[in-house]
Amino acid sequence: MSQPVSKNITWHHGNLTAEDREKFLKSKGCVIWFTGLSASGKSTVAREVEHALVENGIFATVLDGDNVRHGLNKDLGFSPADRTENIRRIGEVANLIAQANVITLTAFISPYKEDRDTVRALMPKGKFIEVLCDASLEVCEKRDPKGLYKKARAGQIPEFTGISAPYEAPENPEIVLKTGEQTLEESTREVLDYISKL
Ligand code: ADX
Repeated sequence: MSQPVSKNITWHHGNLTAEDREKFLKSKGCVIWFTGLSASGKSTVAREVEHALVENGIFATVLDGDNVRHGLNKDLGFSPADRTENIRRIGEVANLIAQANVITLTAFISPYKEDRDTVRALMPKGKFIEVLCDASLEVCEKRDPKGLYKKARAGQIPEFTGISAPYEAPENPEIVLKTGEQTLEESTREVLDYISKL
């Protein structure tokens, strides 16, 4: 990992261990990292899972690609370097939220394996759960809810993932959701089942 630019900074440790926090708060944090093509269902499934968890009194929140690009990451575009920085920042934020014992669901294309692995390495073992939303390009392009694939095919959006920019699927994700074939309820259930066993 690269070193901070700042000098003369010292890491300050809190006096609560992660185990203490889980015991006192009676809740566990983790990062559920959805990855997949645009329109593969990442945000939709993440929102359903969030809803089901919160309804049951469990702290959960969603960080979503389009939303975060309106605020924290409004200075970033879609070049390879900007996507890497996008994921680096989200990874840091997600880790901080998870450390506060919140189930943190992230919905970003996160097309590069190396960037996702860098986020995984930030976290204690078992706290980063990678979820591949495995819908084919054909299905995503047919859905095209924002009309972006059409624009990308027409050459109006450069570096569009799946059309003119790469997507590197994870090799060993914790969960694979067949979001092109199964229902939203089935995908949601799979993620909730996994969370319930953590
Ligand atoms: S990532 O590649 O850096 O992880 P992110 O998830 O934040 O992407 O944003 C993806 C969303 O931005 C897409 O769902 C789509 O709505 C929009 N978008 C706009 N331009 C592009 C592009 N060139 N490639 C992919 N998505 C784009």
